[in-house]
Amino acid sequence: MDSGREHQNNGDATSPTHVPKKQKVSNFITPEEIESEFSHHLPSVARINNGSFGCCPSSIIAAQRLWQMRYLEQPDNFYFNYLKAGVLESRRLIKDLVNADDISEISIVDNATTAAAIVLQQMARSFYEGKFSQGDAVVMLHYAFGAVKKSLEVYVTRAGGRVIEVPLPFPVSSKEQIIVEFRKALERGKLEGSKVRLAVIDHVSSMPSVIIPVKDLVRICREEGVDYVFVDAAHGIGCVDVDVKEIGADFYTSNLHKWFFSPPAVAFLYHRKLSGSEDLHHPVVTHEYGNGLAMESAWIGTRDYSPQLVVPSVLEFISRFEGGIEGIKKRNHEKVVKMGTMLAKAWGTSLGSPTDMCSSMVMVGLPTCLGIESESDASKLRVHLREKFSIEVPIYFCPFKEGEGKADVITGYARISHQVYNKEDDYNRFRDAINKLVGEKFTCKLLSE
Ligand SMILES: Cc1ncc(COP(=O)(O)O)c(C=O)c1O
Repeated sequence: MDSGREHQNNGDATSPTHVPKKQKVSNFITPEEIESEFSHHLPSVARINNGSFGCCPSSIIAAQRLWQMRYLEQPDNFYFNYLKAGVLESRRLIKDLVNADDISEISIVDNATTAAAIVLQQMARSFYEGKFSQGDAVVMLHYAFGAVKKSLEVYVTRAGGRVIEVPLPFPVSSKEQIIVEFRKALERGKLEGSKVRLAVIDHVSSMPSVIIPVKDLVRICREEGVDYVFVDAAHGIGCVDVDVKEIGADFYTSNLHKWFFSPPAVAFLYHRKLSGSEDLHHPVVTHEYGNGLAMESAWIGTRDYSPQLVVPSVLEFISRFEGGIEGIKKRNHEKVVKMGTMLAKAWGTSLGSPTDMCSSMVMVGLPTCLGIESESDASKLRVHLREKFSIEVPIYFCPFKEGEGKADVITGYARISHQVYNKEDDYNRFRDAINKLVGEKFTCKLLSE
């Protein structure tokens, strides 16, 4: 337990993060105020890709600046009197938000990629130290994020483990399809004689973006005797419901900079106290090594800690919206579904999943005549939309399946996001741009490498 040590710090954790509040007692943030909060966004760009890098309103940027100035004014005072107390306060708020049992279960790290490295390095040590046997397995979804897949190669495969990938269908028609494939993969591991040590499960996958039935998959892991479960919820908090006790995984990470209005970069890593996972360490080793992950992560050398310290201000910002984060999440979901449906109708295509598997992001099929035949085509089209139409939207290539006729199968999907700053016009511009390309008989073949 590290919290006793942290309490020795007498710093005033909250004062510098609180920017003066406008004197508005009962009414919620207005559209004009939202516009002003995001007035640093380039007005010429239709930004329908909150999913990749999130957003940060100006009042939080101002609060962050106060922390940065507190550091620059007198670094020693900041490091010795404010940093630990500030991080502790942020951890306490996050603990309550995600319903963890104990503050020692919450560490603040830079991002989901770092959290994955922390968990997977622990797995690698278990192989090297003989707790796991060569050939023991880790199960991961085919949809897993690229960096997480690479991390598995580096930390698990190189340590002698094997990775079992769960093939997943796309477009997907129900959560049961995912559950069936997941069960099959665990079964395959068993038949091949591998003990499954870890399952890595996305909460909301990145590309294609789909809500994964995490609670069901965690329960199946428990029934099947999987040692550990790590939920990669890079798009968790602010995007889907996050109750770590209900989800029941051993490890759960979520960024705060994607859907929780925090400046880059800040995420939390939850590790369940009872999971026997006390050998977790930050990949950057410092003086705090051995004092618990939360302490290790709260002082990893000289750097900017301000994103970790503005959590109280973020909550204050969120409280200005009707229904708080629940209201924001619900409205984002409803609006992105509405916009996705409008686009699919305009293009004569369909959505990539049922709407209850969409979060604040939706996969919308693109017209087949655009000729998206490879990942390279998808990324070239994305660049084309940015450069020629000032539209920021990621494109997913969905390969043909065996036996499918080429002509009318959708092979390209746009992942559209909705966040509080978006307007219908952003999506109308996207609709019109694609219609223009179709009208001009554009195909991806016309784009050079
Ligand atoms: C599912 C998933 N995992 C991990 C990440 C990595 O997040 P970060 O870049 O904040 O580390 C992302 C980013 O989009 C993601 O979607």
